[in-house]
Amino acid sequence: MKGKIEKKIAALFSRRYCVLTGSGTAAIYCILKGLELSEGAQVLYPINTCETAVNAAIFAGLNPVFSDVDIESFNLSDQKIIQLTQEMNIPVVMGTHLFGQLMDFQNIEKKLAENKVILIEDAAQAYGGEINSKKAGQIGLASIISFGPGKLLDCSGGGAILTDTEKLHQKVLRISQSLHDNPQIKSETRQRMMKEMFVIGKQSLPLKAFLEKRKEILRSHSAGYLLQINEVEMQEIDEKISRFSVISSQRETFGQSFRNAIEAIEGITIPNLQGKNILWRFSFLVQKEKRDYISEILSDNGFRVSKLFEPMIKTFNLKESEFPNAVEIGKRIINIHFEKSWDSAEVVSKLLKETLYEATH
Ligand SMILES: Cc1ncc(COP(=O)(O)O)c(C=O)c1O
Repeated sequence: MKGKIEKKIAALFSRRYCVLTGSGTAAIYCILKGLELSEGAQVLYPINTCETAVNAAIFAGLNPVFSDVDIESFNLSDQKIIQLTQEMNIPVVMGTHLFGQLMDFQNIEKKLAENKVILIEDAAQAYGGEINSKKAGQIGLASIISFGPGKLLDCSGGGAILTDTEKLHQKVLRISQSLHDNPQIKSETRQRMMKEMFVIGKQSLPLKAFLEKRKEILRSHSAGYLLQINEVEMQEIDEKISRFSVISSQRETFGQSFRNAIEAIEGITIPNLQGKNILWRFSFLVQKEKRDYISEILSDNGFRVSKLFEPMIKTFNLKESEFPNAVEIGKRIINIHFEKSWDSAEVVSKLLKETLYEATH
């Protein structure tokens, strides 16, 4: 069954190979391990990505380093990627499409290859989308997608690695088969890990010691994160991928209807989108003083909202001044989950107009 589903997923993303894993985090881990970099090699992430994606590098013995994002697209910028990889000699970029908003890596792929920088695509929040005739999931040396709760193909868990390279495929397959295979230990291990993380967070350790401790804790609890795919997840994934085009075109239409209804409202800033986007959540910025009030009104009216992602400045003891755009986005962002019916964009638009009007009068 596993091989059959992997073939179907590879075909969906026009990749030669697919390897299923227990999560998107495990998929990133397998790729990073499979690259066989030296211990402590750096991996560049956007500062406001999902923290578990960053933990995957730590599990693999690598050092995450961070870039600020672009204020218009909310994603990494070409210029920053090139600048940081050159200045800091970073061998791997985790090319992440945040919020499902696609980044066009085509502009920098050649330059990265010339500089011997490996591009890995994190399409966990963006698969289903397409840019410059490339699918999200088809960009870079290898890509990852996630079937975790809340993702486009929302299952109880699971992730996949996609690549066209036979050698890397063999390596990631072997690594994925060496992961823990007992899902029952997962939640218990995670709880223990969170407790230990909390304790070191309170110790005001110097940065180096803090990172070392964090690494130690993560790595000794890898059973909470790095698992093989299991039968239940595979069945759910198989069922969902058979409806992939319906689910993604419905999500695309949702995204467009939200965009059309919201983009002209004064006081709202939406990201600059490129290509065909299958948004993860509909994300937009409001003035920071109004953000909590607007979120409250939306949730009081039955919409699920979140304020992701806060840049991981405290988590990694970094300086706010180095990440001004991510800090600003983090203070102003609202993400609306797509769960309501077709007319919800109009309802949201009406609520936003009323709330923004109220807030200024
Ligand atoms: C951008 C990104 N990458 C990776 C992951 C990790 O995926 P998983 O939750 O399947 O481990 C997530 C999870 O939300 C994510 O948002």
